[in-house]
Amino acid sequence: PVPLIIDTDTAQDDCVALLVGLLDAEADLRAVTMVAGNVGFDYQVRNAFLTLNAAGRLGTVPVHLGCRRPMVRPWVGAEEVHGDGVGGLDMDMTGCEPEAEHAVDALVRLAAERPGEISVVAIGPLTNIATAALKDPEFANNVKKLYVMGGSNNGRGNITAAAEFNFFVDPEAAKAVFAAGFDIVVVPWDPVTLRHAVFGRERLAEIAAIGTPLAGFFDRVCAATLEFDESVGIAGTTHPDSLTVALLLHPELLVRSSGYHVDVETAGTLTTGYAAMSWGVHGLEPNAEVVEEVDAEGFAALITTMLAAPAAPD
Ligand code: BDR
Ligand code: CA
Repeated sequence: PVPLIIDTDTAQDDCVALLVGLLDAEADLRAVTMVAGNVGFDYQVRNAFLTLNAAGRLGTVPVHLGCRRPMVRPWVGAEEVHGDGVGGLDMDMTGCEPEAEHAVDALVRLAAERPGEISVVAIGPLTNIATAALKDPEFANNVKKLYVMGGSNNGRGNITAAAEFNFFVDPEAAKAVFAAGFDIVVVPWDPVTLRHAVFGRERLAEIAAIGTPLAGFFDRVCAATLEFDESVGIAGTTHPDSLTVALLLHPELLVRSSGYHVDVETAGTLTTGYAAMSWGVHGLEPNAEVVEEVDAEGFAALITTMLAAPAAPD
């Protein structure tokens, strides 16, 4: 199995991404680290524990609380998209104790304990990752691969015309991460998510019909964003975060990627958080592999099969 840490702002597809990290046979999830992003921080923490519970894995994976706001800006959430992030699900949090160790310290420690072995999948703003790289100059070397969900490859943003949410919320962190020397794989919003990781109503109905507790959980956490996505012309729910985890665990899902020099705008008037992805004609050395096409059917099949399994693996 692949040892990994998931750094998350847990709401909607972050929950699905955690399920992949918890339930996929290829995954050896070492920790969940939380970062400010989609919805209020305490909701996110509750949502992460709810997901561990749905997977039958409460108490088996440490949850570390990280940065509660971006490096230099006030926090911006996406509550109008996600609501509380889990479609109103709730649970008794007795016994759901986050670790005392801060997420940044956990990231630095876990990577340093096994240099070059653990990959990190960052599916929220990059505040924890940039802070870990500042704290420990060896962090970028110690991480095997850093998978980043964020940016658009010369395409549309989702929070502004130019910017994707994760990079918009903490552009300084995103910029720092691309300059820090990680071995990075980027899964962008446009085109990859919009073309290859949207589940339309037909697929969602198939999933709901599976009837397992996990399929019910999926249905519920995706309902709020389905409404929002359809209102902005996207034909289904979007799954960028779970796709990012799936690509680490199942490289066979990758159809095409290329080396790009990625940098992030921090001082735009209209373009803050824009990911400038230079494809080699501007004299800049690649600092990231940007995913361009994935096996959309293979990915959907992976999620569907996962949701059909009984919640608690034997
Ligand atoms: C990203 O923003 C969040 O809303 C999603 O979880 C994903 O990580 C997409 O822009
Ligand atoms: Ca996310």
